Amino acid sequence: MSSCEYIQYRGIDLPPVAHSMESLEYAQNFSVEDTDVFAVTYPKSGTIWMQEILPLVLNGGDLTPIHTIPNWDRVPWLEEKRLAMVVDQLTSPRALVTHFPYHLMPPSFHASKAKVVYVMRNPKDVMVSSYYFHQMAGFLNDPGTFDEFMAKFLEGKVLFGKWTDHVKSWRHTELGDRIMYITYEEMVQDLPAALRSLSDFLGSNLSEEVIQKIAEHCSFKTMKVNSMSNFSLVPKVLMDSDKSPFLRKGVVGDWKNHFSSEQLARFTSVIRQELENESFPLPWSLD
Ligand code: A3P
Repeated sequence: MSSCEYIQYRGIDLPPVAHSMESLEYAQNFSVEDTDVFAVTYPKSGTIWMQEILPLVLNGGDLTPIHTIPNWDRVPWLEEKRLAMVVDQLTSPRALVTHFPYHLMPPSFHASKAKVVYVMRNPKDVMVSSYYFHQMAGFLNDPGTFDEFMAKFLEGKVLFGKWTDHVKSWRHTELGDRIMYITYEEMVQDLPAALRSLSDFLGSNLSEEVIQKIAEHCSFKTMKVNSMSNFSLVPKVLMDSDKSPFLRKGVVGDWKNHFSSEQLARFTSVIRQELENESFPLPWSLD
């Protein structure tokens, strides 16, 4: 059983392999540009998928970046150590990802016109994906049993805190038309349609031919064998795909293979209660 020391930063736990107090301070002082685009997610909601998509939508479908640059350098995480090392190599318009809740975004983000694509996923599938991720990632605490991990997830004793807090924080912003909400489920159901919405939001004006090309190169099947995107370049001690691959199943509703009826009732009741006074639409039933 592995046990890891996390960094505590403003109420959230982070693994030191990718984060440091310096990287978090760097993020706070980061100069966001008006043309920047952020993919924002709670972990395991489709981060690396949007990370694959964004540069292609921004560059008109040129596949060079996804074939030549590992995803963590191509579209770096705002909060991670790598950003400072690669920032000078990023070309405008820059794409970045972050798991920060809204209130941790840097001051320059709020002063800018940078856009946000917020990807949300059914929390039950998020939890299942996270459970397997904790098994394969050597830099994360062993998740324990599924039941134990569910308790931690619902209490927010996992990376980046509670799912409900994250979702709520990004629903209550003053970003207006600078933010677009999309779900993992919509992307699974019809990726070309999701790409058309993204193209409109980002003003990319992509042709149907380019939309189809991007959809093909960002499919689960293609990403799974792309060494620049599937984390196979990471040492096994940090990510062990024999335990569980990062690109694991890529489907909607895998929770049905994992939740007992008692667990479903517990999970639903906590999430429902925490979203009680919220008016934003959920694209799936909580039951
Ligand atoms: P599963 O574990 O359910 O398979 P994140 O990037 O936020 O860590 O999310 C990882 C999840 O997104 C994993 O879910 C992974 O398989 C899924 N994913 C990544 N790329 C995908 C794609 N092209 N199509 C569908 N799912 C994808």
